[in-house]
Amino acid sequence: MEQIYQTALNVVREKTALVPEIGIILGSGLGGLAARIENAVVIPYSEIPGMKASTAPGHIGQFVIGTIGGKTVVCMQGRLHFYEGHTMQEIAFPVRLMKLMGIHTLLVTNACGAVNTGFSIGDLMLIEDHINMMGANPLTGSNAADFGPRFCDMTFAYTPALRELALSVAQKQGTKLQQGVYLGYMGPNYETPAEIRAFRTLGADVVGMSTVPEVLTASHCGLKVLAISLITNMAAGIQKVKLSEQEVIDTAASRAKVLQTLVEGILKEI
Ligand code: HPA
Repeated sequence: MEQIYQTALNVVREKTALVPEIGIILGSGLGGLAARIENAVVIPYSEIPGMKASTAPGHIGQFVIGTIGGKTVVCMQGRLHFYEGHTMQEIAFPVRLMKLMGIHTLLVTNACGAVNTGFSIGDLMLIEDHINMMGANPLTGSNAADFGPRFCDMTFAYTPALRELALSVAQKQGTKLQQGVYLGYMGPNYETPAEIRAFRTLGADVVGMSTVPEVLTASHCGLKVLAISLITNMAAGIQKVKLSEQEVIDTAASRAKVLQTLVEGILKEI
C-alpha cells in the first residue's frame, strides 16, 4: 500500500478511536445529515495528507465520524468531483481511506437530473446500475493490488440485499422510491438536450456528475454499496426551461429531510 494511505490513516486514528462500519458520501445540498451524527469528531480534508479540498458549492469538505441510527459512521460532508479538476485517483483516495478506517459498506447520495420522463422533480431514486460516460476511471494505471483485483466485476456493484433493504424501509416510511440507472457525466456544464436524448436511448434514467468514480473504487476494494439519487430537475430539453444550479440547490434543500429520514431508517436496519 502506498505510504500516503498509512500517513492519512494515522492522522485519523490520532483524532478518534472510533472504527466506522459505514461510509456515507453526501451529495449537493444534502450535507445536513452530518449534523445528525452524535459524538461527532470532525476532521477537515485539509488536515489529511493526500486528501484534496472540495471546491463545489455547498460541499464543506470534512470527514464527520460518530454515530447515527445506532451505527458508527464516517461521513464525507462534501465530495470531490471530476469537473473540479481532481484526478480520478484523487477522487478514489477518500473511499480507500474509509475502507482502511474499517467500513464494510458505502452509502452514497447525490443530486441528479431525470432523463426518464416518468420521474418527477423531488423523487428519490435507488440506483440499480450505472453507465460511465465520464471518459475516465479511477482504476486505470497500475492496479492498487492491496485494494482489489485488476479486472473488477461490476455485476452486483449496487448490492442487491441493500437495495431490497432500502425499498422495504422506504415502503415502511411511505416514501416513494424510484429505481433506475444513473449515468455519470463529466460536467461541469449540464448536458445538451441531444445528449439527454442519446442517454435515454442508452438506458439512463438519471444523469449526474458524481457517484460513478466512488462506486468503481468501492467495488474494487470489496465494499458493499447503496446509492440513492435525489432528482432535483428534469434533464436538459425535457422541459422548455434552462437548468440552473439554484434549482438544484433549492430542490435538494426542500427534499433533504425525506432523504435524511430514509438514510437514517436504512442505517438502523443495516
Ligand atoms: N445533470 C447533471 N448533473 C446534475 C443535474 C443534471 O441535470 N442535476 C443535478 N446534478
